[in-house]
Amino acid sequence: MLSRYEHALEALNRRARLRALEGRAGIDFTSNDYLGLAESDALKAALVEALQRGVPVGAGGSRLLRGNHPEHEALEEEAKAFFGAESALYFGAGFAANAALISTLPQRGDLVLYDALVHASTHEGLGLTKATTESFAHNDVTQLEEKLRAFRASQAEARCFIAVESLYSMDGDLAPLTEIATLATRYDAILMVDEAHATGVQGPLGRGLAAHLEGQPNLISLHTCGKALGVSGALILMPEILRRFMINRSRSFIYATAPSPLMAAGVRAALKLCASADDRRATLQARITQLDAHVQKLGLPVTGTQIQPIVLGADRRALDMAQALARQGFDIRAIRPPTVPEGTARLRITLSASLAPAQVDALGAALTHLMQDQAA
Ligand SMILES: Cc1ncc(COP(=O)(O)O)c(C=O)c1O
Repeated sequence: MLSRYEHALEALNRRARLRALEGRAGIDFTSNDYLGLAESDALKAALVEALQRGVPVGAGGSRLLRGNHPEHEALEEEAKAFFGAESALYFGAGFAANAALISTLPQRGDLVLYDALVHASTHEGLGLTKATTESFAHNDVTQLEEKLRAFRASQAEARCFIAVESLYSMDGDLAPLTEIATLATRYDAILMVDEAHATGVQGPLGRGLAAHLEGQPNLISLHTCGKALGVSGALILMPEILRRFMINRSRSFIYATAPSPLMAAGVRAALKLCASADDRRATLQARITQLDAHVQKLGLPVTGTQIQPIVLGADRRALDMAQALARQGFDIRAIRPPTVPEGTARLRITLSASLAPAQVDALGAALTHLMQDQAA
């Protein structure tokens, strides 16, 4: 009965695609804790303080039943003020929030246009929605406009949604957000921006790359709280009417135990820390500039962000390289399909404000040696 699973795993192994959980070892060039908040004393102290004032660990039920806690509501009030949106809704995970958004708001007859490189959580929603879904080439605003124009030529009334990330998780590049937002307004579309990797890092006070668009009636942004904010969960920022719709219609909001009130308290503290973390953002930027210089010397394209992929092509090559780096004390993971497109297996290097300059230089030197060895 279980042999079919075993065969599937063996097949993955033959293709160098078998995954297994590994412990934490080596210098962290792989987590998304970009500001170093997850292990900060300030965040730990905020959680201890929250426990002391009686915030419960578990919510005990759905938000629509007994699970709604003042910590959730306070977080949502503070988040909407911080990001400059009309309303906020807190979910237990970014994956659930993205899937909820895309499966709840677009409906039969509507169209969702999505960037070809959006995250698996958006694809989860795309698989559930009754709307028509269509991709456009990564960051290609010309193609996006063609698709919007074609849709509007035949559909004056139906809703159209555009789903993008602001800073792409596996490529580290930025979306041309201002141009995309202009198209959204011109073609009467709703823009959904997943800020997962920009939150805390990009924009004024780390408010993300869509900060200048926040408050527009056709903008929905998603800020995950488990990456640069160092806690867990995700906040969806949106017009109040959409928040009310989500509360009434989103199955993963209605039929799930509410996120931990203690984690909500943690996110409240993280938002305050984020607002005063310009020093951490400056340190992170310095590490980015430093790594970019090493990558440039290798003749490879740089992203200028805290996510730097080294695209190697074959899965085996990426795995071998990650293992060689692990032996030298660096924690950098190989990212393979289906997480990234076929033939683009890569090392995904991430930087954090917690890294020392010497650690970044050591990685630069190790990468240079390995790449030279491979070329020889
Ligand atoms: C772009 C993007 N969106 C959403 C998510 C999901 O967020 P979470 O980890 O909070 O579930 C991730 C996390 O990997 C992500 O990279």
